[in-house]
Amino acid sequence: MNIILLGPPGAGKGTQARRLVAERGMIQLSTGDMLRAARKSGSEMGRRVAEVMDRGDLVTDEIVIGLIEERLKDDHGAGFIFDGFPRTLAQADALGELLARLGQKLACVIEMQVDDEALVARIVARSTCAQCGEGYNDIAKPIPADGKCEKCGGTQFIRRADDNEESLKQRLMEYYKKTSPLIGYYYCKGKLCPVDGLADIDEVAASIAALLDQKAG
Ligand code: AP5
Ligand code: MG
Repeated sequence: MNIILLGPPGAGKGTQARRLVAERGMIQLSTGDMLRAARKSGSEMGRRVAEVMDRGDLVTDEIVIGLIEERLKDDHGAGFIFDGFPRTLAQADALGELLARLGQKLACVIEMQVDDEALVARIVARSTCAQCGEGYNDIAKPIPADGKCEKCGGTQFIRRADDNEESLKQRLMEYYKKTSPLIGYYYCKGKLCPVDGLADIDEVAASIAALLDQKAG
């Protein structure tokens, strides 16, 4: 079953995608993670996108569609979770074409609804285990008191270069200008499934699980 997690920065897309990977064997395709990996590798493309990402702007459709196309050739396990993709109408059309070419369908688009105040608070409190990528939050999910990651025991935690108020404002602006039209797009296609992203992490996970079970059944 292929799904999209759609929502503004900090909505909880990555948090919920990681749970679906662990609990259902689905494959997370996060264009944000792919672009950060490209930056880290020092590739030409990574160098080109670094500045764009730090500003909070969107990377070109061509680059992200290329990244997704490459990964769709891989084994898709129990289905793909598109996390942070598509983000423009052109990307949404391209995804529809790529899936059709592979004879694959989109089961639903989970729209994670949150308010802007909560997003800012979440993002400035976010950190990630440098070793395994497990996500933490100073308020909702603090790093364990012994300073060790609960998943891998790692002791280094990092904060993203674009997790500052200025970049976040621009990321939100990009979301409202270019990504939020996808809510209407997928509504018209009968794929939109809204969930309350303001509930606590376990409750959001339970809402998503119920939706997926309903789609599967
Ligand atoms: P990307 O990495 O996708 O960032 P984003 O969309 O800004 O979203 P985030 O990863 O910040 O938030 P999230 O929804 O995953 O929230 P999380 O689960 O971490 O993209 C980064 C950049 O890459 C873009 O700005 C752009 O430049 C480029 N890019 C990526 N994809 C692109 C594309 N398709 N096209 C063009 N450019 C692209 O949660 C946030 C925090 O809140 C965490 O600390 C978490 O613990 C906490 N939290 C989560 N859920 C809850 C909850 N229910 N209650 C309380 N706290 C919670
Ligand atoms: Mg994310």
